[in-house]
Amino acid sequence: MKLIKGGSVISPQGIQELDVLVGEEKIEALLAPDSELAKTTAENGNAEIIDASDKYVVPGGIDVHTHMELPFGGTFASDTFETGTRAAAWGGTTTIIDFAVQRTGENVRESLDSWFTKAEGNCAIDYGFHVILGGVDEQALKEMDILVDEGITSFKLFMAYPGVFYSDDGQILRAMQQASSNGALIMMHAENGIAIDVIAEQAAARGQTDPIYHGITRPPKLEGEATYRAIQLALVAGAPVYFVHLSASEALANVAEARSQGHNVFAETCPQYLYLNLEEHLGAKGFAGAGYVCSPPLRTKEETHHGDLWRGLRTNDLSIVSTDHCPFCMKEQKELGLEDFRDIPNGIGGVEHRMDLIYQGVVAGELSLERWVETCSTTPARMFGLYGQKGVIAPGADADIVVYDPKGKTKISVDTHHMNMDYSAWEGFEINGAVETVLSRGKTLIADKKYHGAKGDGKYLKRGLTQYLR
Ligand code: URP
Ligand code: ZN
Ligand code: ZN
Repeated sequence: MKLIKGGSVISPQGIQELDVLVGEEKIEALLAPDSELAKTTAENGNAEIIDASDKYVVPGGIDVHTHMELPFGGTFASDTFETGTRAAAWGGTTTIIDFAVQRTGENVRESLDSWFTKAEGNCAIDYGFHVILGGVDEQALKEMDILVDEGITSFKLFMAYPGVFYSDDGQILRAMQQASSNGALIMMHAENGIAIDVIAEQAAARGQTDPIYHGITRPPKLEGEATYRAIQLALVAGAPVYFVHLSASEALANVAEARSQGHNVFAETCPQYLYLNLEEHLGAKGFAGAGYVCSPPLRTKEETHHGDLWRGLRTNDLSIVSTDHCPFCMKEQKELGLEDFRDIPNGIGGVEHRMDLIYQGVVAGELSLERWVETCSTTPARMFGLYGQKGVIAPGADADIVVYDPKGKTKISVDTHHMNMDYSAWEGFEINGAVETVLSRGKTLIADKKYHGAKGDGKYLKRGLTQYLR
């Protein structure tokens, strides 16, 4: 038994002074601070008391977009399920949904099985899977139905990366039709990869091979175009669509327009698109910009992207913040692209910092506390079929709880982070606030600036259908 005493419990509905009684794995009760039960529980010594005075008590973060050990560009994302989920716990994230990958020509079931093998017994926190479909064919379409019944209810398709993950419009339509009948959610990487490859080829032929050209050759219009096209395909198929890692104002405008017409169109963004930019980060001196190569790319600060994305989070046109955690070390991984930006593995690591970074939006007045919790925990749970068990502090829910100290300070650095990366894209960022205590299903993972968990604490989560359709 644990009693989290004296804190402010934050939910999308508001802020309440409540004590939280935690049982074996679940939340047992929410108690008024002066309730008899809270007093006797505190006095009789049966419960461990966690003092949350002047702190926020929030549902554990849910990061619905991670890539542990992802094979990409001739290498693998540098966090294993063990290192990546431990780092997530340090940052107040208690659930991840990672992407199992079916590559073109591979069998969906066999691909998924290999992800189960990587994760099982290694995770610090609970985890689920989406499946990336790299080849939509008859077998994959049938498999989608079976997977939905088994608790894998979302599938990512790519309009980018021809020859690797790419699906053409016909394949996208087929997968969306299948989703419309089986209730799955199609997650879309919306960039026009065919056009991008032409532009990138032309840049390289001119000798423009530095990391910044990764961004210059992937213009926002081609994210906007792909977003529009995917929405039309979804409407024709009668299926909901969820845009991952949305980065550009053009894409957001298309999502907002579809939503204003009442369509089931949803999107997430990531901290890198809210805070980092093409000029200073992707364009950093020498090869340092490689550390910021991800797709879609960081956008220019000269345009309206950053402000528009914050507004999108407020208006709910962007309903979730995920990290797209896809870490690679500079040494021997990002360095694969020393001669040509096209060979730099795409991805930024950040699973540890999402709760802190988005809390900075609260500090800066961009978001309310309630919206912080909603975008980082509650909506992720609802969108991906986990709500009730996750994403909420209520009796019966898993006791995944973060005590967050708004007066704490966190300085991000490669020297102190827990991700398996030899640099930090967030080096030097100073956070007003700090994750203090993290419980996962009632077990203390983080307290007193120490990790108390163990490999294998995290359990696999079978998910239901999205609960977000309008
Ligand atoms: O650059 C990125 N985003 N890498 C991970 C793969 C993806 O597209 O999400
Ligand atoms: Zn993607
Ligand atoms: Zn991703």
